[in-house]
Amino acid sequence: MQASRRKFIKGLSAASALVATQGLARPLGFNYIPNLMKVSPNDKIRIATIGMGIQGNYDTRAALRNPDVELVAVADLYQGRLDTAKTAFNNPNLFTTRDFREILTRPDVDAVLVVTPDHWHDHITIAALKAGKNVYCEKPMVHHINEGKAVIDAWKKSRKTMQVGSQRISSAAFQEAKRMVQAGDIGTINYIESNNDRFNAIGAWNYSIPPDASTQTLDWDRFLGDAPKRAFDPKRFFRWRNYKDYGTGVAGDLFVHLITGVHFVTNSLGPNRIFSSGNLAYWKDGRDVPDVMTSIMDYPKTAQHEAFQMVLRVNFANAGKIQNVTRIIGNEGQIEFSEDNLILTKKKLPQAPGYGNYDSFFTFTPEVQQEFVRQYDAQYPAESRMAEPVKEVRFESPKDDDAHAKHFGDFFKNVREGSQGTIEDPVFGFRAAAPVLACNESYFDNKVVHWDPVTMTKTTGATPVRKSTAPVKKTVATAKNNAKKS
Ligand SMILES: NC(=O)c1ccc[n+]([C@@H]2O[C@H](COP(=O)([O-])OP(=O)(O)OC[C@H]3O[C@@H](n4cnc5c(N)ncnc54)[C@H](O)[C@@H]3O)[C@@H](O)[C@H]2O)c1
Repeated sequence: MQASRRKFIKGLSAASALVATQGLARPLGFNYIPNLMKVSPNDKIRIATIGMGIQGNYDTRAALRNPDVELVAVADLYQGRLDTAKTAFNNPNLFTTRDFREILTRPDVDAVLVVTPDHWHDHITIAALKAGKNVYCEKPMVHHINEGKAVIDAWKKSRKTMQVGSQRISSAAFQEAKRMVQAGDIGTINYIESNNDRFNAIGAWNYSIPPDASTQTLDWDRFLGDAPKRAFDPKRFFRWRNYKDYGTGVAGDLFVHLITGVHFVTNSLGPNRIFSSGNLAYWKDGRDVPDVMTSIMDYPKTAQHEAFQMVLRVNFANAGKIQNVTRIIGNEGQIEFSEDNLILTKKKLPQAPGYGNYDSFFTFTPEVQQEFVRQYDAQYPAESRMAEPVKEVRFESPKDDDAHAKHFGDFFKNVREGSQGTIEDPVFGFRAAAPVLACNESYFDNKVVHWDPVTMTKTTGATPVRKSTAPVKKTVATAKNNAKKS
């Protein structure tokens, strides 16, 4: 062990003892641990996964595909998953617990992966940051809009590294899309569309429930956390996405990936107007979130981009032909994502508008047609009538492109450097999460949600028209008064 590492662990032990006495007695009430020590580049980064369900397993494996990373502990609420982790990660002595706070008091844990249902993200993340841990938190960063600022504050105060887990932005395809958009390859973006349809039970989140699920084999009360108390229901525990008490619906689960990608590619801070419509059309299995949803988001003009509209759709009841697609459309072309690859199509209109075919030209008298052609020929020389040939550029990601491992790689690099500059820090993570949470708010409350992406706060959305109509007279009177005064 490096000297710096020994010092680091020694320092942490004292700090952890503090957490052990305070944290366990007062759940989630950690004080900040003033541990700003960097991990030595020669040392291993020791991780612990909190929430070892489906994605917890995928995340942990992706993290371990990076060099010098070691899994030392796992927290989960279902005993079967704790037992499986020991075999899955080939370590019969792996420390496992149902109480995540026992992970936070361990001095040998440098970073935690928060891979629980959405309603636990903010609580565990804040507690971990306060305990001096670096945090990789799954998307969406928070369950409700009003939880975002507290996570950002905790991250800033802790000075620890945090990465939010929409790993696709670390793919070669998204990096290339960003390069293309910033190079102006598709001109000015005016529209972005994406749909993510499915038609199968697992795709609609009805994951398998283990037959031994009971209040003995899992910690139901802890699962509920800040959600309303209710009797044990294995469906809610293992299919939590179907209930808004724990999950964030199709918007939080799926739209968030696309918004994250769009913000990354365009350098946008977010939309200012969000509207959703939808329905529970097919999966009437007790869930309280829609299975068909379309959301429209208006992105205002900024120094980075012109105004554009984004339309996102999920249909979990699409028994027709499923053609999922994501397109970024500009006034000189489009980028279409397909799996891990993308196709750039460049298309520019000629300067001359053309005439004839389905046009009013044939309705003119012969004399007027003649005069029209004379004027047209004078106005549009031959070169202005030629459209540039449509160009198609296919970008194929390298076969070994591993976005998930790279997303963790960026996190670990920053952990080693003691830096907070990850590709998807909590400010970025919240700017992606808030609009999708607003999609849900719009759907459930049947309203347009107005959002200020700069200050990251909801607004009343009062438009200049509304502001100026009622108080017109007052404004005039005030102006007159002012004029008198001056
Ligand atoms: N980035 C991606 O592509 C991606 C993909 C899938 C899921 N996710 C995200 O990962 C998270 C987990 O999703 P999942 O599909 O793995 O769910 P899951 O139900 O398979 O696993 C969640 C696990 O968390 C455990 N858990 C719940 N509360 C806990 C607590 N307080 N302490 C410790 N463990 C707790 C449960 O026991 C369960 O095993 C969600 O936030 C989801 O949105 C991200």
